[in-house]
Amino acid sequence: MPLLQMTGVDKRFGQVAALTGVDFSLEAGEVHALVGENGAGKSTLMKILAGVQSPDAGSMTLAGQTVRFHGVDEAQAHGVVMVYQELALVPSLSVAENLFLGKLPRVVGYRDLYARARGPLAQVELDLDPAGEVARLGIGERQLLEIARALAREGRILVLDEPTAALSSSESERLFAIIEKVKASGVGMVYISHRLEEVFRIADRVTVLRDGRLVGTRVVADTTADEIVQLMVGKSVRRYQRSPRETGEALGTFEAAGPGLEPLSIALEAGEIVGLAGVIGSGRERILPTLFGLEGTASWAGDPVRSPRDAIREGILLVPSDRKAQGLVMELTVQENVSLTTLSRLQRLGFMDARREREQTRTWIDRLSLRPPEPHKPVRELSGGNQQKVVVAKSLATEPTVLLLDEPTRGVDVGARAELYDVIDGLSRRGLGLLLSSSDTEELIGLSDRILVFRGGRVTTELRPPFDYEEVVAHVTGARQLA
Ligand SMILES: Nc1ncnc2c1ncn2[C@@H]1O[C@H](COP(=O)(O)OP(=O)(O)OP(=O)(O)O)[C@@H](O)[C@H]1O
Ligand SMILES: [Mg+2]
Repeated sequence: MPLLQMTGVDKRFGQVAALTGVDFSLEAGEVHALVGENGAGKSTLMKILAGVQSPDAGSMTLAGQTVRFHGVDEAQAHGVVMVYQELALVPSLSVAENLFLGKLPRVVGYRDLYARARGPLAQVELDLDPAGEVARLGIGERQLLEIARALAREGRILVLDEPTAALSSSESERLFAIIEKVKASGVGMVYISHRLEEVFRIADRVTVLRDGRLVGTRVVADTTADEIVQLMVGKSVRRYQRSPRETGEALGTFEAAGPGLEPLSIALEAGEIVGLAGVIGSGRERILPTLFGLEGTASWAGDPVRSPRDAIREGILLVPSDRKAQGLVMELTVQENVSLTTLSRLQRLGFMDARREREQTRTWIDRLSLRPPEPHKPVRELSGGNQQKVVVAKSLATEPTVLLLDEPTRGVDVGARAELYDVIDGLSRRGLGLLLSSSDTEELIGLSDRILVFRGGRVTTELRPPFDYEEVVAHVTGARQLA
């Protein structure tokens, strides 16, 4: 008898059929991966399991017993714990308070609370001050803290929704080790991810959803990445490779230095895409915030960039990777978010030019194939990957000269990814200069005209096409230096 059996699950949001007749099962001690394109219904299916959403139809059994959850508390009481895609920590509270949120005794003795926090923190190998404010943590630390919190609840079913999207490769390794341990203790886990290499590494079975329907469940050992991608998109997809370009005129040179970053200079041509590669801690993740005036010191074409305001005045724009914290206002609609950065252009004599605003939003919805193509939907109601598309649209709408892209396709599925790549390529062909910071080697190879590899706070290698995948990875991981 499976630990969990969901049968015939339906869920609609207004006109959208998010799930139609979906079956899903989970065994004790199993890792069951759930994959599918953005908006396929993965998060919704798991939110139904976790008591966040109620299904319109279908049934659910836990160890053979029929259950129906009215709220998260009921699901947790049955041992179902979920770590959400959009992190749910309270930034103003301490690490320890967040760990025991909702489980705090009425009178909180802080000394006791901090002491009790050490166990769960140690479990995910997080060396944090339990009294420290969560607002000060990096996104990877927050993600691991969420996982520690879920483990502290001692569930028998643990759902992880894109847990590695915000993690560095070493943090991901840590997570995989934790998953092995949790698995050995008999907990069943559902693992949602867009990274198939992770699925093949840690999952026992994989279920594919497309447009809210179940397309198949496979034993991982009996399938291939190609088959899964084919099931996801309903056809085979090509690997993206940008066609070669002519050299362009010089746009300017970035000079920068800062914490974790030795002085460096990057010259950029019109139409050029410079890829920035490197593991977390290599300095690669610091470079774009520095160039955008958020930290350290930077200049562009001889002019100092002391703040984002300076950067924007120079025509430099940053597309941030953390869409919730920096990129989007969740309560506003798609159109309002896209218009936010272009208010001054859209205003005529102090009034919003409603027609232009509508046209601009339409254009971006089409170009990025936003699903659903609805300008007046609150961003909160979009799937994670579609939210990322709005972040990109919002930045592009300001028509910058230099675009700094920080992990532009984090959480974006393979199909939408190719669409975004076409948009990025199109921008470069219109004469923009782009810096692309990415942990995705395929993405760097597919888009870059050259790749700068960061290690230890500086550029150690510059690679030119044709790129060799293994070689890029060898430089990034330092295997090339060790060899
Ligand atoms: N609260 C909501 N209100 C309205 N529509 C919603 C809501 N949550 C999800 N949807 C819609 O339901 C569909 C499935 O969304 P879901 O978040 O489950 O996708 P997903 O597979 O998790 O995608 P991603 O990989 O982008 O996270 C999408 O069309 C989405 O817009
Ligand atoms: Mg999701």
